[in-house]
Amino acid sequence: MERTLVFLKADALRRGLVGEIIGRFERKGFLIEGLKMVALSEEFVREHYAAHRGKEFYEPLVRYVTSGPAVAMVLAGRNAVAVVRRMMGETFGSDAEPGTIRGDLALSNRYNLVHGSDSPEAAGREIGAFFEPDELVSYGEDATRWIYDQTGPEPV
Ligand code: PPS
Repeated sequence: MERTLVFLKADALRRGLVGEIIGRFERKGFLIEGLKMVALSEEFVREHYAAHRGKEFYEPLVRYVTSGPAVAMVLAGRNAVAVVRRMMGETFGSDAEPGTIRGDLALSNRYNLVHGSDSPEAAGREIGAFFEPDELVSYGEDATRWIYDQTGPEPV
């Protein structure tokens, strides 16, 4: 199953929304294969968002993401990268559809609660940056027996 990197940003912790957001991913059927609280350094965050260096929102984004602890996790499931991005909703809280995390829980165009990898390549890179291999645990079939139909050769 595909893995993606998610982290809950400083506003999610301060607003007491960690359980709410992780609960949505759990209820969807994702397996949490890694989970930890992290104080992200400025250097780490600058590198994480390096693709946006020079954009007008880059410096405020770095300040926001380093303003408090984050909760990082690796989620595993079918099409994890794309499904998590759809569950997060549009970047700006004011644009995000109701039913999505940002659509239900955010109004700000900066404080948008959550990051999810935007491609499988980014997911591989970001998982490697946030987690050591021995911090990740796979616990496949038993947990997913009623999430996917596993009676055939491939889970469906
Ligand atoms: S872009 O320019 O289309 O690639 O931007 P996008 O993919 O939507 O967003 C990239 C990350 O930058 C954050 N972002 C912002 N932060 C603060 N202010 C503004 N205006 C802003 N616009 C985009 C956005 O939340 C993305 O961060 P992550 O953590 O990946 O969600």
